[in-house]
Parts: sequence; C-alpha cells; structure tokens
Amino acid sequence: MTVGDVFGQAAWDYDRIRRQLVPGFDRFYGAVVENIPFGEEQEIRVLDLGAGTGLLSAIVAEKFPRSRVTLVDLSVEMLRMARRRFAGEQGRFEFRTMDYARKALPRTEGGYDLVVSALSVHHLTHGDKRELFEKVHDSLAGGGYFFNADQISGETPEEEALYREWWLRRVREAGVSGEDLAAALSRMRADRNATLGAQLVWLGEAGFEGIGCRYKDHRFAVYNGRKGHGNLDNGKDDDG
Ligand SMILES: C[S@@+](CC[C@H](N)C(=O)[O-])C[C@H]1O[C@@H](n2cnc3c(N)ncnc32)[C@H](O)[C@@H]1O
Repeated sequence: MTVGDVFGQAAWDYDRIRRQLVPGFDRFYGAVVENIPFGEEQEIRVLDLGAGTGLLSAIVAEKFPRSRVTLVDLSVEMLRMARRRFAGEQGRFEFRTMDYARKALPRTEGGYDLVVSALSVHHLTHGDKRELFEKVHDSLAGGGYFFNADQISGETPEEEALYREWWLRRVREAGVSGEDLAAALSRMRADRNATLGAQLVWLGEAGFEGIGCRYKDHRFAVYNGRKGHGNLDNGKDDDG
C-alpha cells in the first residue's frame, strides 16, 4: 500500500483524532506560525507540502489573512477535505494533487515567500528528503523561509525507544481508542524518520541559512531555514 493509499483511507476521519495522536498539538503547530517573521498584513505566497486536509495551511492562512496558499498532496481524498475546509474563500487557495518527491514543485513568479510542511516529509527516503530540501530552496524567493514540523527519530536506539514509549503513553492518556491506535500504528509502518541533527545538516547542504530548531518534544520537532538574498554586491564596499 502506498503512502497515498494510507492517507486516502484515513482522510474522512483524519482531523477528529489529530489532537490525540499529536501530543502537544497546539504548541507543535503553533511553533510554526509564531516563528514566521513576516508581518501579518503582508501578501505572502505560501506552499504547503503534504498539506493533507489543510490543518497547517489553515493556521498559516488565519495568521496571514492576505496570504495565498498552494496546497500539495498526493492523496485526492485528503485534498478533497482541504477543498471543503476552504470552500468559503475561493481564489485564495490552490490545490495540486502530486507527489512532491517525484515531480518539480509548483512555481510562482519570483518564488514563494514561505514553504511549510507538517508531518509529511518523514514519509520520504533520506535521499528524497535531501533532494526535496534542494527543491524547496530553489522554489523560494530570496529571503524566503522553509518550516518543517515533523516527526524525528532518536539519535540512539535508546532515545528512539524512549520516543516510542513516550508517544504511546501520551496518546493513551489522551484517550485514543484501540481502533484508532491500531490504524495509526499501521500507518506508521511507512514512516522513515530521520534524526533532527541529520536534517539540519541537509538543510545547510541545500543552501539554507539561519537554520534552527524552534520546537522539540521527543518525537516532534519544528525546524527552519532561510534562503539568502544572494551576493548582490559581490562583497565590495560601496566606497570601493
Ligand atoms: C500525516 S498527513 C499530514 C497532513 C497535514 N500536513 C497535517 O499536518 O495535518 C501526511 C500527508 O502527506 C502526504 N504525503 C506524503 N508523502 C507525500 C508526497 N511524496 N507527495 C505529496 N504528498 C505526500 C500524505 O498523502 C498525507 O496527506
């Protein structure tokens, strides 16, 4: 079963159980919008990779009411839910059904100001993650930002075991049903989590600057990088 099939089946019921399955849901998603350094009235162009039903897009769009958002996902069903979510705001949202690991990313004139992603990149092989970071860098305007809110693996087998144990404890405390937990564990078989350290290095290799981790709680992290403006003055001083 492909990642698209897995999320296609989960789409109709996805939003209901998100809060149970993502411990610290508000802080995790909140760490993305709180750290985006644009003014709230700016007309930013946003690309959401693996947008699913549009959870993160909605949070970004609410904070930046003049933004225009392109949502990308390979699951037709997930994007159908996203279309419903944004049905009242025709024209501000665009939907693209595609595999962002295999295809060129959508383009906008001058590049995106912001590329975001939540809980999606960890489905890619590590090689594909590195390639994606390069494509994201390429798709951004100078001064644009990339934020990824995602699952990470532990740096050691012990840390990995601790993350798993922590997650199971937290979702049970949140009251997840046996059926929902079994479905989540089945979906998680397709996960290819990478360590936070490796992903920050890959961002640097892709050309990002100002790389940092804005949030981390066991399995869940939000990290970001900025695309530089390029060396416009060739490093020469104005007075020669
Ligand atoms: C766990 S959901 C997250 C959805 C949303 N970002 C959120 O935070 O609720 C992961 C989404 O990534 C999508 N996805 C995974 N790999 C993808 C790929 N290579 N190209 C496009 N979408 C992908 C899945 O179809 C799914 O909708």
